[in-house]
Amino acid sequence: MSTHDAAPEYETTSPRALVVGAGAAGVRASIELVERGVPPEDVLVLGKRAHGDAHTTWARGGINGALGTRDPEDDWTIHAADTLKEGHFLNEPSKVETVAREAPERLRELDDWGMDYSRTEDGAIDQRYFGAQSYRRTAFAGDHTGESLLETLIDRARSLGVPYREHVAVTRLVTDGRDRGGRVLGAAGYDQDTGEFLLFDADAVVLAAGGYTSVYDRHSSRDDENTGDGPALALSVGARLADMEFVQFHPTGMVGDRYGDEWDGRLVTEAVRGEGGRLYNADGERFMERYSPDQMELDARDVVARAIAREITAGRGTDAGGVRLDVSHRDRAFIRERLPRMYERFDSLGVDLAAAPVEVAPTAHYGMGGVVVDDDGETDVDGLYAVGETMAGVHGANRLGGNSLAETVVYGRIAGAAVADRLDGAASTPTPTPHRAARTHFADLQATTDRDGAFDPAAVFEELRATMESHVGIRRDAEGLAAGLSALEDLRERAERLSTGDRTGRAFETALNLGHALTVAEAVLRGALRREESKGAHYRADATEADPDWDRRTVVERDSVGALRLDTERLDEPTPAVRAALDADHELDYHQLE
Ligand code: FUM
Repeated sequence: MSTHDAAPEYETTSPRALVVGAGAAGVRASIELVERGVPPEDVLVLGKRAHGDAHTTWARGGINGALGTRDPEDDWTIHAADTLKEGHFLNEPSKVETVAREAPERLRELDDWGMDYSRTEDGAIDQRYFGAQSYRRTAFAGDHTGESLLETLIDRARSLGVPYREHVAVTRLVTDGRDRGGRVLGAAGYDQDTGEFLLFDADAVVLAAGGYTSVYDRHSSRDDENTGDGPALALSVGARLADMEFVQFHPTGMVGDRYGDEWDGRLVTEAVRGEGGRLYNADGERFMERYSPDQMELDARDVVARAIAREITAGRGTDAGGVRLDVSHRDRAFIRERLPRMYERFDSLGVDLAAAPVEVAPTAHYGMGGVVVDDDGETDVDGLYAVGETMAGVHGANRLGGNSLAETVVYGRIAGAAVADRLDGAASTPTPTPHRAARTHFADLQATTDRDGAFDPAAVFEELRATMESHVGIRRDAEGLAAGLSALEDLRERAERLSTGDRTGRAFETALNLGHALTVAEAVLRGALRREESKGAHYRADATEADPDWDRRTVVERDSVGALRLDTERLDEPTPAVRAALDADHELDYHQLE
């Protein structure tokens, strides 16, 4: 470490492999690096929060992998086929196949590392139904799967001596400056506890910094996570983004007017429906019978979320603005065993899940879009990798519940292995240093600190969220999208005149998060405006049908003056094995649950 003379001062650390983000994908990448022989002191994992408190802990209901515990006829090709079908074939087949093929091994590995899976009577990893999957394929640890997964990975990483630094915000990736085909040299940021500027001089950077659904008013994550940091940081140094218009609204988020603002949008896990939970409107009608008589409450998330939104808009919602989710026909003991966190949470709010329904409405939960990467997880920028929710490609137009956790461990491992290989072959290659670019950036950040502007960052962020919710939410149309884009211009102007406070304060962090969020918001709006059809999570009220001309994905990049440029590209075909599984047309029969 060294301190430089030129103002502003900053601390330099030189890991060879820097992992930005300490959720499941980032930690899994770090494990692979060390297991493949990279010395732990050459690796560093950064997190914005306290160690162990990443967004992964909020993932609840399960992790997919065709283990065949309950349904031996399941296999990875059917998992891949389900994923492609529900992604409306806008997923990259090679990535889907990789996740489906490798997930069982990753799930067993987690078992070996001590994950406290829920088990069958004979001790096998149990699996439950999740939406739009042909078989019971979702392995789980009660309804705290994300928590258990991250704990397991962190224990493993600790046993390998992987270093971790918490409360660090990365504000800029540093490259050799070329717009295209550039090379990553590290990352710059600051310590959120001390305000100190930090430069990480690295040979490779793995971005595992989450997604972008906190740009919506009702969202399932905490306000300061999933603000688009990963995609925005990558885009700013020449990587491309894909599929940004596809935002998943989870059907069942808690309703703030009923349970309190702090709970608004928080997840009521799909596992509640996977264990038999039923949806009713305020008239007591089990309305999914009208929308999806075969798959009912376990149809794909986009279908169920739109059905709920329609019921509410048609005046059949509850006074608090939701519908009812009822699992009370199940035994109390069963509910406590399979849905312990939900049971406890509602109990603390005075609702007995075993005796009464809860109120739910759709909530922004997952960005299917993200950074374009190759089969190793590497972006268009040499040495820059993206994994987990930050990367694009696996989910297409709509994600299957349980596939995000599977993707974190599959692609976390793959990217870790690729970086380990890269470092192995590059030990003696001299790299340019990132100091010059970092100094310019730190000077900008210094100028942003303690700025006494006219606008409060949190208030501008709230306006952005309201804009996204109303203009590019579950239902979209050209007029609303165009209005959303012009509202964004106004918000950008305000974002230039923020009151920021010092670097250890909340306002400063929010101002930076807002910068990322505005970038991804524009990409979402532009993609949604361009895609004049309805597919998966993207529903255009002015173009309600799927259009085969639009069997293409949108791709966004920055042009030479920094504006967003949008293009489209076609995707490959699945392999014959997966094509055969698609042709076999497997489908969940919901009524097996009854
Ligand atoms: O509902 C849930 O438990 C969410 C799971 C997921 O998004 O994969």
